[in-house]
This record gives sequence, C-alpha cells and structure tokens, in this order.
Amino acid sequence: MANFFPRWTNILPLKIAVCLGVAGAGVVVGFTYYATPKAQRVGYMPAQPIPYDHSLHVNQLGMDCRYCHSFVEHSSHANVPSANTCWNCHQHIRKDSEKLRPLRRAFDKDYAEYDGEPIKWVRVHKNPDYVFFNHSAHVNRGVSCKSCHGKVNEMEVVYQAEPHSMGWCLDCHRNPENHLRPLEEVFNLDYDAEEWLAENKLLHPESGKELKTQKDLGLYLKEHWNIKAKESCSTCHR
Ligand code: HEC
Ligand code: HEC
Ligand code: HEC
Ligand code: HEC
Ligand code: HEC
Repeated sequence: MANFFPRWTNILPLKIAVCLGVAGAGVVVGFTYYATPKAQRVGYMPAQPIPYDHSLHVNQLGMDCRYCHSFVEHSSHANVPSANTCWNCHQHIRKDSEKLRPLRRAFDKDYAEYDGEPIKWVRVHKNPDYVFFNHSAHVNRGVSCKSCHGKVNEMEVVYQAEPHSMGWCLDCHRNPENHLRPLEEVFNLDYDAEEWLAENKLLHPESGKELKTQKDLGLYLKEHWNIKAKESCSTCHR
C-alpha cells in the first residue's frame, strides 16, 4: 500500500524536540512564517452525514453552544454531541425527514435500518498531534468561540474560519487584549464590545476613566485576571 504521508512528517516531533533546546525570539519569528501552510485550510468545509444547520438551531431556535458542546468549559476537548442529544427533540420533530435517517439508524431501535453505530461526523478543525491545546483554559478567560471559529451561529455548514497556524495562535498570545470579553458573553457570538460598554458603563478602578473600546476593556480584563498568555514553546509543545 502506498504511503500517503511525506516521509518528513515522521521526524516533526523530533525537530520540535531539537528546537526546544535552542529556542529564542528569533526562532519564533522564523517559524511564524514558515509554519503557515495551514492558512490554506481556511474555508475547509467537509460534507457531513446529516446536514445539521447551526444557524437554524442557534440563531432561530436560540440554543446555547453548551447544550451540545457540553464539555467545552470543563475540559481541553470540546465534544460533538452524541445522537441522544438530537433524539431528545427529533423523536418528536420531523422524525420522518429524509435528512435524519443517519440519526435514526444510530438511535431509533424501532427503525428498520437501526444499527446503533454512532453518527460519523467529519472533523473540521484539527491540530497536529504534537500541539497541545485546551478549550477550558480559553473559554474561562474570556476568549469567545468566535475568535477562533468565526460566527458559527450564522453557518448553515461549519467551515474553518481562522488559519489555526502557529503564527495565528501567537498573535493572540502576544496581544490578548484585542479579544478578551466578559465571561457571560463568551457564548454570545453577536456580542459587540462597544455596544456592551455603552450599556454597562465600566469605570477603570484606578484612573476612574470610562472604558470605551475593545482595547480599553481588553487591557482592563488582562490586568484584572492577571493574564499571561504564554509564548514559550513548552506551552503548546510538550
Ligand atoms: C444542537 C446541537 C448543537 C448546538 C446547539 C451547537 N452545535 Fe456546534 N456542532 C454540532 C454538531 C452535531 C457538530 C458536528 C457536525 C458539524 O460540523 O456541523 C458541530 C460542530 C461544531 C464545530 C466544528 C467542530 C470540528 O469538527 O472542528 C464548531 C467549531 C462548533 N460546532 C461550534 C459551535 C458553537 C460556537 C455553538 C454555539 C454558538 C454551537 N456549535 C452550537 C452540534 C451543535
Ligand atoms: C431543542 C430541540 C432540538 C435539538 C436538540 C435538535 N434539533 Fe434539529 N431541529 C429542531 C427544530 C425545531 C427544527 C426545525 C423543524 C422544522 O423546520 O419544522 C430542526 C431541524 C433539523 C433538521 C432539518 C430537518 C428537515 O427535514 O429539514 C435537521 C437535519 C436537524 N434538525 C438535525 C439535528 C441534529 C443532527 C441534532 C443534534 C446534533 C439536532 N437537530 C438537535 C429542533 C432540535
Ligand atoms: C483559542 C481558540 C479557540 C476557542 C476560544 C475555541 N476553540 Fe474550539 N477549537 C480550537 C482548536 C485549535 C481546535 C482543534 C483542537 C485539536 O485538534 O486538538 C478546536 C476544536 C473544536 C471542536 C472539535 C472537537 C475538539 O475539541 O477538537 C469543537 C466542537 C469546538 N472546537 C467547539 C468550540 C466551542 C463551542 C467554543 C466556544 C465555547 C470553542 N470551540 C472555542 C480553538 C478554539
Ligand atoms: C484569541 C486569543 C487566543 C488564541 C487565538 C489562542 N490563544 Fe491560547 N490562550 C489565550 C489566553 C487569553 C490564554 C490564558 C492565559 C492565562 O490564563 O493567563 C491562553 C492560554 C493558552 C494555553 C495555556 C493553558 C494552560 O494550561 O494554562 C495554551 C496551551 C494555549 N493557550 C494554546 C493555544 C494554541 C495551541 C493556540 C492556537 C491553536 C491558541 N492557544 C490560540 C488566548 C488565545
Ligand atoms: C501558542 C501556541 C504555540 C507556541 C507558544 C509555539 N507553537 Fe509551535 N506550533 C503551534 C501550532 C498550532 C503548530 C501547528 C501549525 C500548523 O499546523 O500549521 C505549531 C507548529 C510548530 C512546528 C512545525 C512547523 C511546520 O513546519 O509545520 C515547529 C517546528 C514548532 N511549532 C516549533 C515551535 C518552537 C521552537 C516554539 C518556541 C519558540 C513554538 N513552536 C511555540 C503552536 C505553538
């Protein structure tokens, strides 16, 4: 059988291990440019076994991300829901829809085609194995799904909206103030910092000045939560 993976991928973890020894600021800059082929993955939109529509379920029906991605606040991985989450509603709603056949095959024991196999959702976002990532560390520090996944609440089909390259991760780790927001707004993908500040009128505790822009609020939250989004290699490669 042909080997589809170029041979150099086998030694990537080794290359990183070597780099960890000689790491310096210059190295970061160098890699930021040469580690960006993943930018090509922006727009990646695989077909899914069920045409599940986020814009319908989130924006029209008003569902919260955590109803389905229930681990996202508590663990490094965000889960995709299992069939019973969908079945809670769809045993009553549009049960006979052609589009829901894979759901019934997975979960409806009375269905002629029932086989009990989980629905085979296709992964959209995937870091290489040598990268360490953690959802809860971000979500509990005021980084919204939107900063990394775009406006999923408007997507009929999920696609990759951001490059997820090393340079992209580092851009935010260097300047998190451009993204931080109040924790209760993390799951609100329509949030707008300036509108929120106009309604909530926050004064900086020391200077007494009113916070007006994303940057004002971001810098304040960074200080308040003592955020140090790290740039050292071992943060993301361990
Ligand atoms: C009713 C359940 C449900 C709700 C609510 C929901 N999702 Fe999903 N989500 C899914 C399912 C099922 C998939 C896998 C199929 C797909 O990619 O469309 C998925 C996939 C995703 C993916 C892509 C995962 C990958 O493979 O990389 C992201 C990102 C995502 N959801 C974000 C969100 C966000 C943000 C919200 C809230 C605004 C949300 N979802 C609300 C069910 C849900
Ligand atoms: C809170 C209830 C609820 C949950 C949970 C839910 N849905 Fe839905 N879903 C709906 C409603 C309501 C509609 C719109 C029905 C209509 O248009 O008549 C719908 C529509 C759909 C449709 C379009 C059906 C058609 O024939 O046009 C699909 C496909 C679908 N949902 C898949 C899913 C999947 C997959 C999950 C689990 C990841 C899920 N839904 C979870 C309530 C839900
Ligand atoms: C700081 C960036 C960032 C934020 C914030 C973020 N994600 Fe992700 N998400 C990622 C990355 C990177 C991956 C790929 C992870 C991997 O391959 O290990 C991913 C993968 C996923 C997946 C696929 C399953 C998994 O864990 O690999 C889902 C579902 C998902 N995200 C949903 C969400 C939801 C819902 C939110 C908001 C509550 C969210 N994400 C917030 C960066 C982020
Ligand atoms: C939009 C901003 C943003 C993006 C994009 C982002 N991060 Fe972060 N990251 C943060 C913030 C904020 C923290 C929290 C730092 C703190 O708590 O002091 C953090 C913390 C982390 C941590 C530390 C978790 C721990 O164990 O304490 C890891 C690991 C991490 N990020 C990996 C990544 C990786 C890998 C990517 C790219 C795939 C990425 N981040 C993209 C903002 C971001
Ligand atoms: C904030 C998280 C983060 C930090 C800090 C980080 N990396 Fe990475 N690194 C990544 C991600 C994500 C990728 C995968 C990029 C991709 O898939 O395009 C990556 C990829 C790499 C690669 C593979 C490049 C390639 O050609 O695909 C090397 C080598 C590497 N990193 C070395 C380092 C070194 C050395 C440091 C410290 C100077 C470092 N990284 C710091 C997130 C990080």
